[in-house]
Amino acid sequence: MVSEPVIKTVHLDCFFGAQPVLKDINIEIPRHEILGVIGPANSGKTTFLRALNRLNYLHRTYSQTGEIHLDGRDIRKLSDNLLRKKIGIIFALPQVLPVTIFENVAYGPKVHGMTNRDTLCRTVEEALQRAHLWEEVKDRLAEPAVRLSGGQQQRLCLARTLAVGPEVILYDEPCSGLDPISTAKVEDTMQLLKADYTQILVTNNTKQASRVSERCAFFLMGELVEIGPTRDLFTCPQDQRTDDYITGRFG
Ligand SMILES: Nc1ncnc2c1ncn2[C@@H]1O[C@H](COP(=O)(O)OP(=O)(O)OP(=O)(O)O)[C@@H](O)[C@H]1O
Ligand SMILES: [Mg+2]
Repeated sequence: MVSEPVIKTVHLDCFFGAQPVLKDINIEIPRHEILGVIGPANSGKTTFLRALNRLNYLHRTYSQTGEIHLDGRDIRKLSDNLLRKKIGIIFALPQVLPVTIFENVAYGPKVHGMTNRDTLCRTVEEALQRAHLWEEVKDRLAEPAVRLSGGQQQRLCLARTLAVGPEVILYDEPCSGLDPISTAKVEDTMQLLKADYTQILVTNNTKQASRVSERCAFFLMGELVEIGPTRDLFTCPQDQRTDDYITGRFG
């Protein structure tokens, strides 16, 4: 690997109560990679994503051991605010705020201290452009965001994440509620964002993983079974369990 990975986990173990949910996960994710994460239900995919920006700790029974590094720094040295600014997350169901389209995107920058109206307007426009949504909403920025379609709401959530200047974007089954056209728009947007961001896509849809990701990780029952170039993982998996999953024998 040429440069230092953006994200690195070292012997990461995660627990809910006494139940081990992820076991000894060691992953390095280089800058600008789109990493796909696949695996059947309950394999720990969501827990892995939420470990990266410490969202799991919102659950009282959660604990973890091992290390997670962002740009070579242990994330325990970063505040929750800074960590979640650097590592944004998009959930399966779009979580728009009950305010206007503009205010949805302006919310994060305001929380982080941006008050100048012109700067805010520029930031909102740029984020919406990057999220591939500007042309569809530029004349209706003052409308409530809930009036947007599901696919537009998902790209609005992406714009909201982009507006605070992240390095890494996590997606947890972002297209599970979307039709094929909206899904294609999200996937196209991910490709355009590749130049500037590192992206991790959890998906139950193996076809989506093979379309979008460059490397892919297969999780099963809390174990990282296999990780490698997406084409290799789908054409000649090294582990029988990966083969069983991608050929539809379970999951
Ligand atoms: N808040 C929680 N409290 C207790 N256990 C949890 C919690 N969240 C997840 N778990 C457990 O952790 C394990 C992994 O769950 P996780 O949500 O990470 O799986 P997943 O691979 O994302 O599954 P899916 O494909 O269904 O989204 C499961 O056994 C689940 O029951
Ligand atoms: Mg999940």
